[in-house]
Amino acid sequence: VRLRRAWLFVHPDAVREILITQDRAFTKSPELRWARFTLGDGLLTNVSPDYRRRRALVQPSLHPKQLAGYAGIMARHAAETCGAWMPGQSIELHREMMQLTLRIVAEALFGAAIGPEADAISDAMDRNVLMFRRLVSPWGLLKALLPTPSNIGFLLARRRVIGTLRRFIRQRRSAPDAAGRDDLLSRLLRACEPGAGNNGKPGLTERQLIDECVTLFAAGHETTANALTFTLWLLAQHPDVAARLRAEVNSVLGPERLPGIDDVERLPLARAVLAESMRLYPPAWIQGRKAVIDCEVHGHRVPAGTVLFVSQWVTHRDPRWWPNAEQFDPDRFSDDQAGHTRPKWAYFPFGAGSRQCVGESFAWAEAILVLAVLIRRWSFTANSDRPLILDPGITLRPAHEVRLTVRPAQP
Ligand code: HEM
Repeated sequence: VRLRRAWLFVHPDAVREILITQDRAFTKSPELRWARFTLGDGLLTNVSPDYRRRRALVQPSLHPKQLAGYAGIMARHAAETCGAWMPGQSIELHREMMQLTLRIVAEALFGAAIGPEADAISDAMDRNVLMFRRLVSPWGLLKALLPTPSNIGFLLARRRVIGTLRRFIRQRRSAPDAAGRDDLLSRLLRACEPGAGNNGKPGLTERQLIDECVTLFAAGHETTANALTFTLWLLAQHPDVAARLRAEVNSVLGPERLPGIDDVERLPLARAVLAESMRLYPPAWIQGRKAVIDCEVHGHRVPAGTVLFVSQWVTHRDPRWWPNAEQFDPDRFSDDQAGHTRPKWAYFPFGAGSRQCVGESFAWAEAILVLAVLIRRWSFTANSDRPLILDPGITLRPAHEVRLTVRPAQP
């Protein structure tokens, strides 16, 4: 096993320098190469010169202007999910949230319904995460290549996800209204046509199409599911905040109306609760970079080849910027003064700079609308005093089941 030195920068100025002002001095860290084994060569892992063109293909479908069309899908799936719960039922929250966000991404971005295979796809995504962990551990590649039941399970699960995506693609290509559609899948399919790229070639090969879809499918649902799980778990521990949030939602939406995109801005406490939850439990908790030239970061000389990290987990809990850093207090995001005195990059749940999350606006709208629909109808209590044990892998997720009991909320 070869030990390598890596640097962790925690100061917000260093975060800005690494991710924004000097981003051309860095490429993604070598660890992320391993994610190509699980996600393929999609936007998240792409470090080729073609990267900007590939991002420009995806970005318009996730632009804030497109969100109005997605809001109805987000709210409807949230209502269906929580409509199936029974009073007093103990739900496995993380599983529920994973399936909910999977259904939303499938319909919003791929125009397809995930039916009974939702469980199998969630399981496949879990195996992706486990495989990434195995790959970045010592002797990772060797461990991943052994014909163990878990490695074979990973390969079968990957085949299942790709099979589902191929079905979405086939259905779309043969749909009578295919030419008139303008969602993400249609844009990617148009890029596959001859002449869409340079010199009469397609702009995307079939393989790149699948890789881009697997990445968006994975990146587009797990992080948001984790954020919602952490948020509802925190609200179960803080019924006073849950009651205030429910009052906000009831005053904006009333007892029945499903929210639309205009409601996102009318629910400032919902946004603050989610922001505070992602401060304490950032679903993307660490990003690695490798210096491609000699440079200087926050006064430190960084030779080319150095691997360095910035971590939301560490910077978001730094008491220099966050008084009572361990405490859940959404009002710190409502309090304008505190927001103005804090350095901007003391908070970066969606990263920053040219590789900032392309799905940020989608994620905010989705999380706010889903939270509003769930909290209006149900109150959540933890089934035990067991603390939340975390599993910090490629994302930050709960290490075990998160069981909450749901009861009808009092308006
Ligand atoms: C709470 C939810 C989310 C969080 C916390 C989150 C966080 C992040 C972060 C920190 C990055 C930057 C990674 C880096 O710099 O190495 C990123 C990139 C990315 N995210 Fe998200 N994300 C979320 C939701 C989404 C959604 C909903 C989508 C798609 C619909 C998405 C798609 C992507 C993609 C494709 C990238 C790679 C972008 C690029 O390199 O150009 N994410 N995300």
